Amino acid sequence: MRGLIPVLALLLAACGAETDDSAASSPAPVADEPVVTEAAIVELDPLTGLAMTGDWQLVRNNCIGCHSAALITQQRGDSAQWLGMIRWMQAKQNLWPFDPDTESRIVAYLAENYPPAANRRRAALSSDLMPPNPYSQPSAAPEL
Ligand code: HEC
Repeated sequence: MRGLIPVLALLLAACGAETDDSAASSPAPVADEPVVTEAAIVELDPLTGLAMTGDWQLVRNNCIGCHSAALITQQRGDSAQWLGMIRWMQAKQNLWPFDPDTESRIVAYLAENYPPAANRRRAALSSDLMPPNPYSQPSAAPEL
């Protein structure tokens, strides 16, 4: 029991450090959290998870017939990147062509609500929070 207290203290200290780190970097958008735009927090459609703003129904009607909407909401891109994905699906996945007005409204919705984000991966663990690396010890290196 006595040995447990320093371990707990270390764990708490480590958690504190982790929280500070993540607060410093930009918040990571998560698919099932409300999308925060400059204007307000946008409601998510309970069925698809799409941000219910602007032309979201146009996107729902055209974009979830072949795959989950999660494929869309977890993706990020500017308008050129979204258009590129649409062109790829049209070339390779039988996505139908859109009339120019529909296409530009879909792309605008996507680029506005799912824009490029800073690195969304969590920060790497610091080495003191990880088990020892067996490969960093010379004795563990394979004999050649
Ligand atoms: C005709 C079928 C079809 C429709 C409709 C469709 N897609 Fe796709 N889409 C696909 C297929 C197939 C894939 C590849 C799925 C996979 O990798 O599992 C895909 C993949 C994606 C991806 C992932 C791309 C990547 O790089 O990982 C995104 C994002 C996406 N679609 C967005 C959309 C959007 C936005 C629309 C509406 C404009 C749409 N899709 C409509 C067939 C379709």
